[in-house]
Amino acid sequence: MANMLKRDLEALVRRIEAADGARVASDPWRQHFHLEPPAGWLNDPNGLCRWGEWYHIFYQYSPFDTRGGIKLWGHYRSRDLLHFERLQPMLYPDQPWDLHGVYSGSALVEDDAMYLYYTGNVKHEGDFDYITAGRGHNTALAVSRDGVTVERKTLLLENRDYPSDLTCHVRDPKVWAQDGRYYLVLGARTREDRGVLLVYESADKYRWKLQNRITTPEKFGYMWECPDLYCLDGRWFLQCSPQGVARQGDKYQNVYTCGYFPLHGDFRGACRLGEFTELDSGFDFYAPQTFLDGQRRLLIGWLGMPDAPYENPTAARGWQHCLSVPCVLERAGEKVYRLPVPELKTLRRGAVAPQDAQVFDLEAETELRGRLAIRDSAVVAWEQGRLTLTLTQGGYGRDTRVLEVEQVHSLRVLADTTSLEIFVNGGEGVLSTRYYPNPEQRGVTVEGAAASLWEMGAITMTENWEGTAK
Ligand code: FRU
Repeated sequence: MANMLKRDLEALVRRIEAADGARVASDPWRQHFHLEPPAGWLNDPNGLCRWGEWYHIFYQYSPFDTRGGIKLWGHYRSRDLLHFERLQPMLYPDQPWDLHGVYSGSALVEDDAMYLYYTGNVKHEGDFDYITAGRGHNTALAVSRDGVTVERKTLLLENRDYPSDLTCHVRDPKVWAQDGRYYLVLGARTREDRGVLLVYESADKYRWKLQNRITTPEKFGYMWECPDLYCLDGRWFLQCSPQGVARQGDKYQNVYTCGYFPLHGDFRGACRLGEFTELDSGFDFYAPQTFLDGQRRLLIGWLGMPDAPYENPTAARGWQHCLSVPCVLERAGEKVYRLPVPELKTLRRGAVAPQDAQVFDLEAETELRGRLAIRDSAVVAWEQGRLTLTLTQGGYGRDTRVLEVEQVHSLRVLADTTSLEIFVNGGEGVLSTRYYPNPEQRGVTVEGAAASLWEMGAITMTENWEGTAK
């Protein structure tokens, strides 16, 4: 028998997308080469994978509320990261153990199936703090054989299965296969308000045994969201999005941060975390997830920041947020560098005069000090030791962010209608932000750099609800 809740939610999503989609799509603040929700709210990228010829990009999707409500898994797929299809949502909150949101998670793909591990969020009615009581964070598995629909959902772990010193906040499974076994990590908040990572192992993808716990010697935030553990060029890294890390000078300027620790030793046994480095120094970058694409490891993040003191005015126009461009990760010692996938260069349309630039890709070899002024709304300035991004108009509460960097040799700026992604020194540092200039506003001025500037075209998006082969 069909799940009635899912059936009705599905129909509602279709109606909302049909009713609001055209108005949202014609908003001049919509972008050219970023994935956005068809209507409503988007947050974390989920279940990123390549399965056969398709890349699958799922995301936390709240079609019912532009300020974030009950979460579904929205779904895009693409063969080349340039031409996309928008499919029906993959996961709905339709079980007693995921009723108040199918929260973030990841994908494991094998020849015959796609295994989607996620957190089923449940909020009980009553007078609870929802930290130590009143909330269920259930680790669940949804199996798909066609990459479009889910065949079966299984509850794997509930709060009572996690260590007893943890709060109810235990979520965001990231799964991978290694040495003939499966591994799953979860981010958690202890009752002492410390962020910690749980490492589970399984032989069959269904029965999971706690293998290890990893944290820092000194407290580093109260909760580690969206963990990811991966090996890059022979070195292991623990990536996560910690909440509750206090600002220290130019570091941790946002309400929550995200970044990585180098991991020394074996994550299954004795190991130690090195120094944390932020993955982004802009206003809007959070909950990134990586996945393997053949030999390369790609990363996509959410160009947003939960609980931020600044806003996105599009919420009043029926939609909010987007994903970052996909990036390739590379290792330099104990650092992770990040640059846009080379595929994006195919969107370059041709050189554009600086005064006409609006949606563009800029590459610059920089002098010791200099500045870029973008669309009369954003200024990027650098000198020894610091690169600053200042939003002079259209920031909606965003002012200045700083990247500490010894010297700036090169810049790459991907400027879409309402976002900037600024890659410094070949991906050593990145600043990502949303901003909302007057849609008509054009023009870039460059001082202290030799720059090349291309106008950028758009990714394509075709609606294909049923995911029929095309
Ligand atoms: C991070 C996060 C995750 C959670 C999801 C809910 O932004 O809070 O920890 O699974 O968003 O949408």
